[in-house]
Amino acid sequence: MDVRPARAAHWDAGETLADRFRAHAGDSQHLYGYAMRGMADDWESGGPIRMASRGYETAPRGALVQLRLLAGEFRLVLTGQAPELIRFYPCLGGTDPASEAWPVMREVIATHIEDVHAALAVAPQTNEVGRSAALLAGLFDLVAASGVRRIRLLELGASAGLNLLLDQYAFRGHSWHFGPSDSKVQFADAIRGPVHPESFEIVARAGCDLNPVDATTADGRLLLTSFVWPFNLDRHKRLAAAMEIATSWPVRVDKAPASE
Ligand SMILES: C[S@@+](CC[C@H](N)C(=O)[O-])C[C@H]1O[C@@H](n2cnc3c(N)ncnc32)[C@H](O)[C@@H]1O
Repeated sequence: MDVRPARAAHWDAGETLADRFRAHAGDSQHLYGYAMRGMADDWESGGPIRMASRGYETAPRGALVQLRLLAGEFRLVLTGQAPELIRFYPCLGGTDPASEAWPVMREVIATHIEDVHAALAVAPQTNEVGRSAALLAGLFDLVAASGVRRIRLLELGASAGLNLLLDQYAFRGHSWHFGPSDSKVQFADAIRGPVHPESFEIVARAGCDLNPVDATTADGRLLLTSFVWPFNLDRHKRLAAAMEIATSWPVRVDKAPASE
């Protein structure tokens, strides 16, 4: 499923939050497509979304206010404060049609306006373990080119550092495999094109981030989960499994800008 902002090229400087919500939704038929179109109408009619978004009317486009709102609402669902929405969230077993969700979502926002408003202060943050496949392909190439097999892995903008644990994940290709085969994180055919596996050892690992997340805490796991779209089931599965691994293999992620 393509979840990139739709019609991004047509956004312009005079846009309102409603314009951005609509542009991001496009005509997507998934839960967040319906939600963002509903949010746009609600913002224009002065409903709970307008109240929850107060103070963010001129936030930069890159602040992605719509994703902050949706993650704030998702956290309400994940923490049991909005059980009426579970039936629309596929990652929680929900199977009801996305097209019917917005009125229920709006009611939840109306009931929790201050919680949703507070959620706008939290910048979207995703730690996508799937990127480990690209990292592994790059490491194979580096080892082949340099002959160096002892690696210090340092990541800028590491979030919770889950990609620093790639040697704890299992990768399988047509005629090769890497990592513990019984890992809870499994990748099959995740690297396209020819792969020339090399053996290497990660002897040190660390990251930095402006806002590091500690995946060994319930709050950290809640935050990361809330920014993954509820219908991206594979991504939720990978994230949950990687966070479980991280509780046994905590990685150090310093709070620091990449420039340091
Ligand atoms: C999209 S996330 C990617 C996280 C992780 N690297 C991954 O691939 O899953 C980008 C991360 O970069 C961090 N970030 C953005 N600008 C940064 C900077 N100047 N210095 C350090 N971290 C930064 C954000 O806080 C966020 O956690």
